[in-house]
Amino acid sequence: MFKEIWQQRLKLVEERLPIELTSNPSLDKTLGEAMSYSLMAGGKRMRPILLMAATDAVGGRGEDFLTVACAIEMIHTYSLIHDDLPAMDNDDYRRGKLTNHKVYGDGMAVLAGDALLTLAFETVLRQQGASDAVKLAVVREFSVAAGQSGMVGGQAMDLEAEGRRIPLEELRRLHMGKTGALFRAAIRSGALLAGADSKQLAALTEYADKFGLAFQITDDILDVVGDAAVIGKPVGSDERNEKSTYVTLTSLDEARNLARQTVDEALAALALFGNEAEFLREIVRRLMAREK
Ligand code: IPE
Ligand code: IPE
Ligand code: MG
Ligand code: MG
Ligand code: MG
Repeated sequence: MFKEIWQQRLKLVEERLPIELTSNPSLDKTLGEAMSYSLMAGGKRMRPILLMAATDAVGGRGEDFLTVACAIEMIHTYSLIHDDLPAMDNDDYRRGKLTNHKVYGDGMAVLAGDALLTLAFETVLRQQGASDAVKLAVVREFSVAAGQSGMVGGQAMDLEAEGRRIPLEELRRLHMGKTGALFRAAIRSGALLAGADSKQLAALTEYADKFGLAFQITDDILDVVGDAAVIGKPVGSDERNEKSTYVTLTSLDEARNLARQTVDEALAALALFGNEAEFLREIVRRLMAREK
């Protein structure tokens, strides 16, 4: 059941992304190509799928909010394009293909990222079947999550932690920012679109934060033990860049233990939900075994 729903939703996202991407023609042909190159390179689409699953969990229909689901994927893809730049992690492969700057050059990659970020906000406003008030709330979620107190803030902490040993509490805040924030925005937005009450929203926020942390810990583990051909990006990038990660600051075993514990906390956060949150439970249960 889980796999079927996943496949079905993945297909919906893959079909809708190019439509949302070309809703407005790009002034520059190469820029449009660069945006499409990374957006349509076949990521796991975790954030859109989680957004829809959060809608389901509060009794809505995830498929009704595909437009907003595509918007969060645009912000995520922009973050990856910039993350890979020579001035940041300097990686050559992403999603099994050459990174954006390797194909289009650094300047165009910066611009493709900028344009995906801004397009995301326009896309949210294009969502049908949601009130202006709810769309405004979603825009707020996205902007807070993407910015200085969220993803960009975490990326800045990540840069500054290179070559240093930082306290684990600081690493937790770094991970919650660079990775957790977009998961939080995805899940909270899915819940808000379906009219979640404050208790449901609080529980899903807690779930999202734990999910995001566990996801980045497993990403850190995959950077060491993953198969580059499967994850579609290089292994050893963190070591090369002297990054602070759970693996570099503790050990593989301790990172695994912490991920497991965080997964349990995510599951506990869903206690007030019944069967309608089963998909959310299953995604987080599968994190420990993920190979990509
Ligand atoms: C990679 O995210 C960057 C992190 C936040 C760890 P994903 O692992 O979701 O990458 P894609 O979207 O599947 O390529
Ligand atoms: C970056 O984390 C997450 C964001 C892009 C915000 P990483 O640098 O670990 O992501 P990967 O491993 O390159 O995907
Ligand atoms: Mg990085
Ligand atoms: Mg990186
Ligand atoms: Mg990584």
